[in-house]
Amino acid sequence: MEIRKKSASSNRPDEWMIEQGMAAHKLPILDQSAGKETIKVFPPNPTRSPRIKRRFERLAIAANSSPVNEKAGWGIYVEWEDYPDKKDKAHKILTSQTFPPCPDFQWGPIPGTNPVLPGDDFKAWHTAIGGELASAADDSWRTVLKEKHPDMLHLLQFPYNGEPPKRLVTSKAITPNSLHFVRNHGGIPLIDPDEFELKLDGMVKYPKKYTMDDLMDESKFPRMEKTITVQCSGTRRIEQISMYAGQGDEVPQAPWAEGAIGTARYKGISLKKVIKDCGGLIKNAKHLELYGAETYVKDLHVSNYVVSVPWSKVKANEVILAWEMNGEPLPKIHGYPLRVIVMGYIGARSVKWLYRIKAIKNSSLAPVQAREYLYFNQQVGKYNQRPIDGIQIQEMPVSSAIMSPWTNQVVMHDGKIHCKGWAYSGGGRWPERVELSADGGFSWYAVPEEQLSKKGKWSWRTWEFDLPCDVEGWIEIVCRCWDNSLNTQPLNVRAAWNWGLHVTSSAHRIKVYSVNKTRKLTQQKLAQFEQNEVDLAPLTRYDPVPGLTDEELSKYNEAHPRDADD
Ligand code: MTE
Repeated sequence: MEIRKKSASSNRPDEWMIEQGMAAHKLPILDQSAGKETIKVFPPNPTRSPRIKRRFERLAIAANSSPVNEKAGWGIYVEWEDYPDKKDKAHKILTSQTFPPCPDFQWGPIPGTNPVLPGDDFKAWHTAIGGELASAADDSWRTVLKEKHPDMLHLLQFPYNGEPPKRLVTSKAITPNSLHFVRNHGGIPLIDPDEFELKLDGMVKYPKKYTMDDLMDESKFPRMEKTITVQCSGTRRIEQISMYAGQGDEVPQAPWAEGAIGTARYKGISLKKVIKDCGGLIKNAKHLELYGAETYVKDLHVSNYVVSVPWSKVKANEVILAWEMNGEPLPKIHGYPLRVIVMGYIGARSVKWLYRIKAIKNSSLAPVQAREYLYFNQQVGKYNQRPIDGIQIQEMPVSSAIMSPWTNQVVMHDGKIHCKGWAYSGGGRWPERVELSADGGFSWYAVPEEQLSKKGKWSWRTWEFDLPCDVEGWIEIVCRCWDNSLNTQPLNVRAAWNWGLHVTSSAHRIKVYSVNKTRKLTQQKLAQFEQNEVDLAPLTRYDPVPGLTDEELSKYNEAHPRDADD
């Protein structure tokens, strides 16, 4: 009682953490721009209860009562792009209510749960729009549980974003369908293939519609089958987040690790042939807009998932309309019945649940193409960015990652640390050399060719290597790749950090505590641990197992006095 009285303080209990930058989301912004006096701009109180704007409530319900489902046999699909009025109505619904704010996960601790983040805001928006979308979150989660491996790491429950655990990312050079990462921006449409129709319109000579049977007619469209790596530009984003916080939009910025990459054998037809079947492009059409059937919400505006690819890419037969993945019909979660696969490009262009292709003059203005997946300069961010300041990410650069061991892991070894991982380069380039360093990137060992999986123009190479490591203690293992054009990776995350937290292509660095058992002293100490039944883990626990006895110490001190004489 006495102590408490004396130490009365106006500090917050979390003051120490805030001062040390461990709760930076609670820090006020210091506005020093006015001259003499600094103004503190505090973050809003997150416990403030969501306020419902009653004035609009009736309007929302009225708008919602009109049927929004579009087509028989097409579940969780609403056509927005052709109906600006309907888009406006949905916007009114979404702006008439206050929804739970997007939770901060960059400065607060990331929850230790699976799913990691629930996506409450996206769930609430879908429920509010109603109709076909009312049950999208629950239905989509059911599809996840049915189609994906039980060990998947669910980063975001809705829209579903998930990756395999590290031990399974490169366990096979071809990723099994159930373990392939998934990156969704909305619900998972449920489309009956018999009711399916692909519309091709815009600046083509003869706009047409195709059924699945039309597209599968080999007399019209020759089949294509290729092994292709799809990589999300968010792969390894967690390294950028751990360094500096960036754009915090929950779906665009899911906290991916190294597993947002996968390789599969896709079967389908070349989009070029279908364009030809429509009489080719007319006037000066240069891009193909690709439409995915689900609903995406950006800034409380709804749209379908729309991006575009340049005609030059299509013309090179590098864009597939695919219906088969690793010898099976596309899983629902990967775009059934038809998706696009754009070889060597960022995954975002490989549109799933494709229902329309429109030939247009310039790159699409749809939000996913024009306002997201932009690579900003380091000095461009929240307070000064315009979409035109970012490079539209298309071809992926060369990158790599270590899947084993893991960062902060203690590794006992006999002079070599066994490492595993992947390496990839986009744009039709491929990994030629993978190198590892055990000393933070000073000296490099090349992984022998026979320990890399087979080369492919459009695919990654998985690898394994016994990395020589003589030293003990904390080391930094680094991995980098050189592709066939001699491109390689920046050496640190900061060099490639960007506001959108995209394309973490820097050399992959992991901290590992090396215990080299070929060293005599280490052997003796480990034997002592065993004798005394002392647990080896965790590394940081203090275990009173003396290195020398008092007698040995004293003998040493006699022979080697600690002090120096004058
Ligand atoms: N297509 C649609 N219709 N909707 C989406 O959300 N996500 C894109 C792309 N195609 C997406 C989409 C992104 S960002 C990536 S990385 C890939 O799909 C991921 O493909 P996958 O989920 O089959 O692994």
